[in-house]
Amino acid sequence: MATKEDLLFRQVFTLKDGARVLIRPLSKSDRQAMLDLFLPVPMEERRYMRHNVNDPEVVAAWTEEIDYDRVFPLIAEVNSRIVGVASLHFNPDYAKHRAEVRIFLAKDFRGRGLGTKLLLALIEIAKRRSLYLIEVDIVRDLSNDIKAMEKVGFRTLCIFEDYFMLPNGELRDIAHMVMRLRQPEGEF
Ligand SMILES: CC(C)(COP(=O)(O)OP(=O)(O)OC[C@H]1O[C@@H](n2cnc3c(N)ncnc32)[C@H](O)[C@@H]1OP(=O)(O)O)[C@@H](O)C(=O)NCCC(=O)NCCS
Repeated sequence: MATKEDLLFRQVFTLKDGARVLIRPLSKSDRQAMLDLFLPVPMEERRYMRHNVNDPEVVAAWTEEIDYDRVFPLIAEVNSRIVGVASLHFNPDYAKHRAEVRIFLAKDFRGRGLGTKLLLALIEIAKRRSLYLIEVDIVRDLSNDIKAMEKVGFRTLCIFEDYFMLPNGELRDIAHMVMRLRQPEGEF
């Protein structure tokens, strides 16, 4: 269950280059700022993403149907502009001890330490929820993204060969990365 504390989560910090950033949960009123972040994403990047983020209906649904117990999204805001989003996607039943991580930053905010900050904030939320494992699937071509995940503690558990199909039909491998947050209890 998302607690009041989770919903009030706030972090303010200054990037090395001076930009002041606020990290907070996504809210309904962020609709336009989310459209502004995702609609301009070029095909070169969108082809590696799960959803068609150039479709306003797809992006608008993320602010219209917020259920923090299903998906917990944190956003990074600079001067009222959303420059990054990272989310924890929870599972039911037998998989409720783990969640999937997704992250996306505006191009002009990459390589400035923001991804690391946003991921660390999401890991804090995952720990508060007492999750055992968090995981992320990344197309293997995206070696910088894999490095960014390794920097905060994810490790590649396995490679799924040919698991991702690009819009032109080409196949790519997926790196399945996992980070353990908690050990099983009651073992001797
Ligand atoms: C992946 C992503 C979240 C990383 O965030 P970021 O803010 O760019 O990363 P950081 O600046 O915090 O850097 C973290 C580490 O990533 C690696 N890295 C990031 N950018 C890099 C670059 N241009 N070249 C080489 N390494 C890079 C480095 O190892 C870096 O650590 P270091 O600074 O100690 O060397 C961000 O670049 C992004 O949103 N990319 C596009 C979206 C995407 O493809 N998402 C799919 C992942 S699920």
